[in-house]
Amino acid sequence: MRILAIESSCDETGAAVIEHGRIIRSNVVASQASIHERYGGVVPEVASRHQLDALIPVVEAALREASVTWDDIDAIAATYGPGLAGSLLVGLTGGKALALARGLPFIGVNHLEAHIYANWLRSQDADTITIPASEDADEDEWPGDPRFPLLALVISGAHSELVSIPHHGHYELLGQTRDDAAGEAFDKVARVMGLGYPGGPAIQQAAARRDPSRKNPFRLPRAWLNGTWDFSFSGLKTAVLHLVEGAQHGAGDGASRYAREGAALAGDLSIPDLAAAFQDAVVDVLATKTVRAAQSLGVTQVLLAGGVAANVALRERLTRDLAPLGIDLRFPPVVLCTDNAAMIGAAAWFHLRLGERSGLDLDVRPNLQLPFAAAQ
Ligand code: KG4
Ligand code: ZN
Repeated sequence: MRILAIESSCDETGAAVIEHGRIIRSNVVASQASIHERYGGVVPEVASRHQLDALIPVVEAALREASVTWDDIDAIAATYGPGLAGSLLVGLTGGKALALARGLPFIGVNHLEAHIYANWLRSQDADTITIPASEDADEDEWPGDPRFPLLALVISGAHSELVSIPHHGHYELLGQTRDDAAGEAFDKVARVMGLGYPGGPAIQQAAARRDPSRKNPFRLPRAWLNGTWDFSFSGLKTAVLHLVEGAQHGAGDGASRYAREGAALAGDLSIPDLAAAFQDAVVDVLATKTVRAAQSLGVTQVLLAGGVAANVALRERLTRDLAPLGIDLRFPPVVLCTDNAAMIGAAAWFHLRLGERSGLDLDVRPNLQLPFAAAQ
């Protein structure tokens, strides 16, 4: 089965041609990051207007790069949520219209589920991809697929969730953020530090510039929320804000510990040290909780999903901590961690295989969650 998939939930317009839910024939992404950079974040009205301009050229490019025509496409998939309503509307309506015009089956895809299914995609630069014999190619399990039961850490611009996945399509929420999502914290802290948008890669790069032979003068707070699998990043974000403001403007009476620490530096604050201290705090909490959850569930594989899964410090720390426990960490290559349409095609395949289809009356769901079942 060959799927044309469309992603338009935020500021990236993506189209991809995916075979058997795993093989990427093409994966085209038009990013608006340089447009939103000057505003320090995504401006929804600007994003949807650019989605409209980009959609058809991106779809055409995806077909061209895959060297296929419409006759080679068996189904169309598009994200229907969560995300920005105006942006979602462009890709979803475009996908439905193409399906109607071509007489093809259509399915709406949950963007968060798609981030998880990015782990089923084969790397495009892999030397060999083991494809089962043709009669089995649309089978549920391929060699090298993630092995159930799984634990997934879903960390994106708006979500931070620990999810138990006993089998395909079944999700149990273990814990989630009580305030900011991990990616949101990266983006907000980067803005405060003057590092630009998107914040995750900017902080990672700034942190890499610090001199590792020197002890980091900053030690930032971690919210452990013991006894739960939940996260909280707003206290950490506020600590960075106080440090930067203290360094720039000094600290008055009753100022917080971090404002006083910043003021003591009198404008001489090291951005690489601070970026590294922030990244360490986020990674420490995400990794510690994920390792404990993996042990308590008894899984042998953990999946990273979402834009923050691109973070090298997090990947390294989790790989290191899980290996001695005999648990594998799996994560998609960076281009498949951030928003893309290949992952939409991967998730769509598993639903289409079960005979699921969406009606052309399917509407956007900006606040869509993973379809959680009650924990057992
Ligand atoms: O999944 P995604 O591309 O979009 C959403 O669905 O939200 O995630 C975007 C988030 C942004 O907050 C961005 O700063 C973060 O992922 N991100 C990173 C890195 N690359 C992207 N965070 C930390 N380290 C990175 N290398
Ligand atoms: Zn995303």
